[in-house]
Amino acid sequence: MIAPSILSADFARLAEEAAAVHGADWLHVDVMDAHFVPNLTLGLPVVKALLKATDIPLDCHLMIEDPDRWAIGYAEAGAYNVTVHLEAAADPVQLAKNLRAAGAKAGLSIKPGTPIESCTDVLKHYDTLLVMSVEPGFGGQSFMAEVLDKVRTARRLVDSGHLNLIVEIDGGINEDTIAQAAEAGVDCFVAGSAIYDASDPGAAMAKLRALAAR
Ligand code: DX5
Ligand code: ZN
Repeated sequence: MIAPSILSADFARLAEEAAAVHGADWLHVDVMDAHFVPNLTLGLPVVKALLKATDIPLDCHLMIEDPDRWAIGYAEAGAYNVTVHLEAAADPVQLAKNLRAAGAKAGLSIKPGTPIESCTDVLKHYDTLLVMSVEPGFGGQSFMAEVLDKVRTARRLVDSGHLNLIVEIDGGINEDTIAQAAEAGVDCFVAGSAIYDASDPGAAMAKLRALAAR
């Protein structure tokens, strides 16, 4: 699966930018609050507008403090998958239950420095695991290959039947890095600059999809 990240799109033309990646599995929406990460992007009103503007399921990645309070609104609005950060969540199990009860898939993300062992107990409550392969906050950073060990661990847990998760990776995914992520066992690849900085985002997405095929 490919999830183009609109962080690298033109925020004044979001409907057209979504249409440019027609056929994407998910559209990745980076919500940043200038507290959990040192950047500020967009919030629930823009997500609600995007939901009306595209049929692509929205994959909302909340890089915010207090997701226990704020994440539910994205699920209730109709986001397909709502991902919160383990590092910010006070009660990740209850949070996952609330997201699912509101009709969304529940996603859990971990920063590059957070070991997967810190969330293995709660992962059975989640539908997706988003492994960050850059420090969250900005697009266009370099891929951190060292996080692939976490992907391999997650892949083993899924393949052995211990967990039922979509393994997602986010940060620095491009034509040079996607194959190694696929090899490690990623199911869903987020890509921002590699798609939206290209002259033809749809073609860039198709190229990534072909390189990820495994
Ligand atoms: C970074 C965001 C990413 C970002 C990825 O904190 O979570 O989703 O858009 O951008 P690229 O693909 O350019 O690294
Ligand atoms: Zn993201």
